[in-house]
Amino acid sequence: MEAIVVDGGLPLTGTVRVGGAKNSALKLMAAALLAPGVTTLRNVPDISDVAVMAEVLERLGAHVVRTDHTLTIDATELTSHEAPYDLVVRMRASTCVLGALVGRLGRAHVAMPGGCNIGSRKVDIHIAGLEQLGVAISTEHGYIDAEGPAHGAHVMLEFPSVGATENLLMASVLADGETVIDNAAREPEIADLASLLSEMGADIVGAGTPTITVNGVTALTAVDHSVVGDRIEAGTYLIAGALDSGPVTVVGFDPAHLDIVLLKLEHAGCIVERQVDGATISRAGRIRPVDIQTLPFPGFPTDLQAPFMALLALADGGSVITENVFENRFIFADEIARMGADIRIDGHYALVRGVPALSGAPVRSPDLRGGAALVLAGLVAEGRTVVTDIHHIDRGYEGFVDKLSALGASVRRVDVSDPEAA
Ligand code: UD1
Repeated sequence: MEAIVVDGGLPLTGTVRVGGAKNSALKLMAAALLAPGVTTLRNVPDISDVAVMAEVLERLGAHVVRTDHTLTIDATELTSHEAPYDLVVRMRASTCVLGALVGRLGRAHVAMPGGCNIGSRKVDIHIAGLEQLGVAISTEHGYIDAEGPAHGAHVMLEFPSVGATENLLMASVLADGETVIDNAAREPEIADLASLLSEMGADIVGAGTPTITVNGVTALTAVDHSVVGDRIEAGTYLIAGALDSGPVTVVGFDPAHLDIVLLKLEHAGCIVERQVDGATISRAGRIRPVDIQTLPFPGFPTDLQAPFMALLALADGGSVITENVFENRFIFADEIARMGADIRIDGHYALVRGVPALSGAPVRSPDLRGGAALVLAGLVAEGRTVVTDIHHIDRGYEGFVDKLSALGASVRRVDVSDPEAA
C-alpha cells in the first residue's frame, strides 16, 4: 500500500522523455498472436498493464520475455483460445485479444469486461462488427464466445470505437476477401497497429482515416517494431509545465498527435514550441479559462480531460468541460474539490470556476488519469498532498515520481502503512 506525497510550490523546469504509448503497446502485443514466430516490440513502457497483457499472452500459449523496454513474444504455437475472467477483470484492454484469436485460430472465448470506474464501456460495437465479418457470437456465462472464421465484409461502426476498430483490424487481416471498416477510429495508436500488421505482411489502406480497407492475406510473419510515443503521457507532463510556469520540454512523441491539446494550452495562456520529436511549454501570466469538449481523435482526448481540469481549476474565470466519450469520467472533480477547486457537474458538463490557489489535502486516485491529475494539482497546491490508491497511476505511467522529481518537483512514494513516512 503506497501513496504519493507531493509538497507543492517548487518550480518545474527541464526535459522529460516519454515512453511508448500504453494504448498502442497493449494492442501490438495482442497483434503478435497473429504471426507464428518471434515478434520483437521496442519502446514498450514498464507499466503494470503491460505485465497483465504479458500474462494474458502466456495463458494463450505464447512466450513473453522482457528485457528493459523490449519485449519478445514467441507466438509459434498457441495452446488456448481463452482469455479468462481473472485477467480481463484486472485490465479491460485484454479484450483486444478477441480479434487476434479470431484471426489466428478462427475462434475465441474471452471474458466480458464488467463496468469500470469511468463508465459502462460496452462491447456491443465489437460484437456487431465481428458478426458482420461472419463470426458467430454468443454471450453466455460472462464470456464472449466467437466462432469464425471471419470473411471480408463492409462494416459500419455506429461510433468510432478505438477498441472495436482494433479488434476488427486484427480479425480481418487474415480473413478471406476485402473488409472495409467505415467510421473507424483515427487515433495514432490505430495507425501504429496497422503499421505493425503491414510490416508483418498485411494489406491495409487508410488506417488513421475514417475508412480502412483490408485485403486478407494467407499468412503473416513476425517482425521487429518500435511502439509510437505516448501522446497522453506527453500531454500530462506538458500540463504539469502549464500548471507551473515551466519551461518544460517533453520529448519522445509527435506533437501532431496532440494538436488540439497544444492549441487549448495556447488559448489558456501558454507558450508552446513544437519540435520534431516533442514540445516545450512555458507560461508568463495567469491561466486563462477555456472551454474543451472531449471527442474521438483528432478531437480533445478524454484521457487528458482530468489533467486539463486541474489546470482550469486555477484559471482566471470559468470554463466549461464537455465529456462526450465516457459518461462517468468526472469523479476526479470530487477529489480535486477537496483541494479547494470549485467545480459543478451537470450530466456530461462540468463548470470549472477558477480559484486563485489550491490547498494540499489527502486525496484518493479515482482512476489512472484522474490519479495523475491529482499529483499535478499537488505540485502547485499550497502545502502537502497525499495521493492514495496509486496502483491506478502505475497502470499507465512509468517512473511518474522519478520523472517529476527530475523536473524539480518534491514528490515521493511512501508506504502508507507507515504513518511516520507520510
Ligand atoms: C481506448 C483507450 C482509452 C481511451 C479511449 C477513447 C485503450 C486501452 N484505452 O479505450 O484510454 O480513453 O480509447 O480514446 O486503448 N463503446 C460502446 N460500445 C462498444 C465500444 C465502445 O458503447 O462496443 C463506448 C464506450 O462505452 C465509450 C466510447 O464508446 O463510451 C469510447 O470507447 P472506445 O473508443 O471503444 O474506447 P476503448 O477502446 O475502450
